[in-house]
Amino acid sequence: MSKISFPQDFIWGCASSAYQVEGAWNEAGKGRSIWDTFVHTPGKIANGDTGDLTVDHYHRYKEDVALMKELRLDSYRFSVAWSRVLPNGTGTVNQAGLDFYDRLVDELLANKIEPYLCLFHYDLPQALQDQGGWPKRETAYAFADYARVVTERLSDRVKVWMTHNEPSVTAFVGHFMGVHAPGLKDPLAGARAMHHVFLSHGLAAEAIRASARQPVKIGITLSLSPTHPATQSKRDIAAARKTDMGLNRIQLDPFLKGKYPFDEFPLIKVLTKGLIKPGDTEKMCCLDLLGVNYYSRSVVKYDFKVPLLQSAPVQPVGNEYSGMWEIYPQGIYELLMRIWKDYRPTAEIMITENGIPVPDGLDFDGRCRDERRIRYLQNHIAQMHRAMEEGVPVKGYFHWSLTDNFEWALGYGPRFGLIYVDYKTLKRTIKDSGRWFARVIQENGFEY
Ligand code: FCB
Repeated sequence: MSKISFPQDFIWGCASSAYQVEGAWNEAGKGRSIWDTFVHTPGKIANGDTGDLTVDHYHRYKEDVALMKELRLDSYRFSVAWSRVLPNGTGTVNQAGLDFYDRLVDELLANKIEPYLCLFHYDLPQALQDQGGWPKRETAYAFADYARVVTERLSDRVKVWMTHNEPSVTAFVGHFMGVHAPGLKDPLAGARAMHHVFLSHGLAAEAIRASARQPVKIGITLSLSPTHPATQSKRDIAAARKTDMGLNRIQLDPFLKGKYPFDEFPLIKVLTKGLIKPGDTEKMCCLDLLGVNYYSRSVVKYDFKVPLLQSAPVQPVGNEYSGMWEIYPQGIYELLMRIWKDYRPTAEIMITENGIPVPDGLDFDGRCRDERRIRYLQNHIAQMHRAMEEGVPVKGYFHWSLTDNFEWALGYGPRFGLIYVDYKTLKRTIKDSGRWFARVIQENGFEY
């Protein structure tokens, strides 16, 4: 064992998102979001769970910030619920909604925790969905306007602005796979949504820069996954390449190079025909900060029956799995090296999400001994560190998530938090992993 150490200014944090933790879904003038609608549609969420209350962060944010302080976090990445600020998506501003984020930001700063504000984490106002949602170009302009409203109120204190969390998930899991709100299974809607979500990043970045009250950093968070062929057959290799296009390059190319990888991915060209106006893709390429969310790799084999990518996921035998994914720590290293080698971003690079779902519980003495999460974190952070030693300038690491919370279509089954939440009483208990993470932050490293 030797000590893994991080640079003095390395940023340690935790991430969350509005719908997953806030609750108060219809309080203080908040409008409905597509997630409010989706969870109340029978059959969409495991166990019929909803985020109506979730961990009630809206009312318990002071307690949560106190816990962040106990964990010694440098930063907290959270998202703003658009429909709390603009109940109809555009038009009248709900000051009470903005007041909540104002209080949260003040509480964070009072505890010396840097807010990383993300403007969109899947919860489009239902009013905009009713007018066509992300498949419509107008929604991108509405997003830029919303960005301006929040910037005007909070940019005197918030210095880091993330436009979207996982824009490809918004587009494809919501509009093509139908697993997330709005629950569509339409490839064309998925492609249209993709272009407008991506475009909205560029438009919002312009709006934020124009209205910010101090110099700010603007970023985006992408969900990325190294892709491997199941075998070395030509067809599996080609399937992996296509999957890599659909998962990774479709995002990295526009946000880091200002163009879509159309030459190598003609399908998307066909699906987005007529949508892309001159200058759109160039606008997307304006990052100060590239957030990388890493959970697992993708292993795929050729399957002609699968629409678009002609590839199907494979679960390698003998490997370790969590309830949701293969555990593959080396993937974080592969991903960071690839981004660095292929793109050389001038933007700062950060891991903005990484974590493991574990069916945690409290022992008889009230303690949560989540050894498995500690091991997961050690291995992943060590692999991130390996990439740093080989030259990738990673500036920070955010754990997903601060507390256990509502995990989208899977409801409250998977627990990702460093803090255990009893969903009956909403009592919070710091898990062993949380204590471990606090020590890592204090020592800026750990024995490995
Ligand atoms: C990411 C999402 C986040 C959470 C984790 C487990 O894709 O950004 O909200 O659900 O997965």
